[in-house]
Amino acid sequence: MTTLVLGGTGKTGRRVADRLAALDVPVRIGSRSAEPGFDWTDRATWAPALEGVEAVYVSYYPDLAFPGAVEDIEALTALAVRCGVKRLVLLSGRGEPQAEASERIVQASGLDWTIVRCGWFMQNFSEGYLLEAVLEGVIALPVADVAEPFVDVDDIADVAVAALTRDGHAGRLYELTGPRLLTFTDVAAELSRATGRRVTYVPVTAEQYAEAAIAHGVPEEEVEALNGLFAEVLDGRNAHLSDGVQQALGRPARDFADYARANAEAWARP
Ligand SMILES: NC(=O)c1ccc[n+]([C@@H]2O[C@H](COP(=O)([O-])OP(=O)(O)OC[C@H]3O[C@@H](n4cnc5c(N)ncnc54)[C@H](OP(=O)(O)O)[C@@H]3O)[C@@H](O)[C@H]2O)c1
Repeated sequence: MTTLVLGGTGKTGRRVADRLAALDVPVRIGSRSAEPGFDWTDRATWAPALEGVEAVYVSYYPDLAFPGAVEDIEALTALAVRCGVKRLVLLSGRGEPQAEASERIVQASGLDWTIVRCGWFMQNFSEGYLLEAVLEGVIALPVADVAEPFVDVDDIADVAVAALTRDGHAGRLYELTGPRLLTFTDVAAELSRATGRRVTYVPVTAEQYAEAAIAHGVPEEEVEALNGLFAEVLDGRNAHLSDGVQQALGRPARDFADYARANAEAWARP
């Protein structure tokens, strides 16, 4: 009855794995640092990770919208079926046509599937690539005055674990957002309140963003893909709320202000 948690050391996967372990569900982490190792770029590592596995949580890396993701999800899903997996929960992105292509593959797999389609993670500001920006006090992204309903990763993990361990979630697509639309300027204000330090938001051009990211060591292809993602999903198409957390768990989603208060330690200076 082992559950394989792909990306099990990352933002959602780590929380999913912890919750499963607390429920006494046998967990296998699927990532490059796990044993056996799982690497999306080395398909020879996939079958050993899937051996004896009943359910899989799929958090793809780097992003379902990036080139090659659809092919990887197609191959992994087919292999999961061949290995005898029964249930698969896919972490997906919101407003990304490429992510929807992966969703369709999972939906057609014959497995008991659940899609957890998410807006931008709140934890990008405390555990992800925007942590450094928050610590420096300036968030600079190629995004205009567009509102996004940021979602708490703890809510995502709660939904994923419900789908992995309880009945009633197979064949469901849950679209998860937080309860409030926020622009990046609003986010900076929330973070300023929570940290007691001034955090500002500065919209920049895609070229300025690329220059700064490359200077920080982000590979050029990744910067290009990220710029494409910002332009695509932050063009206003996602500026609306969804009630996936309420649907899946019967409770409201956590607000950004609560997230910021609870995570204030992440921004405490040593
Ligand atoms: N961030 C968002 O706002 C957001 C919103 C909606 C959906 N998503 C989706 O969330 C997923 C990624 O989440 P994230 O960006 O927050 O990353 P993450 O889950 O925080 O971290 C990366 C995880 O992937 C593993 N990993 C990295 N490279 C890998 C590789 N080559 N093969 C296997 N595992 C690898 C890492 O472990 P090791 O280093 O040990 O390999 C770690 O467990 C993407 O599919 C994305 O579409 C993200």
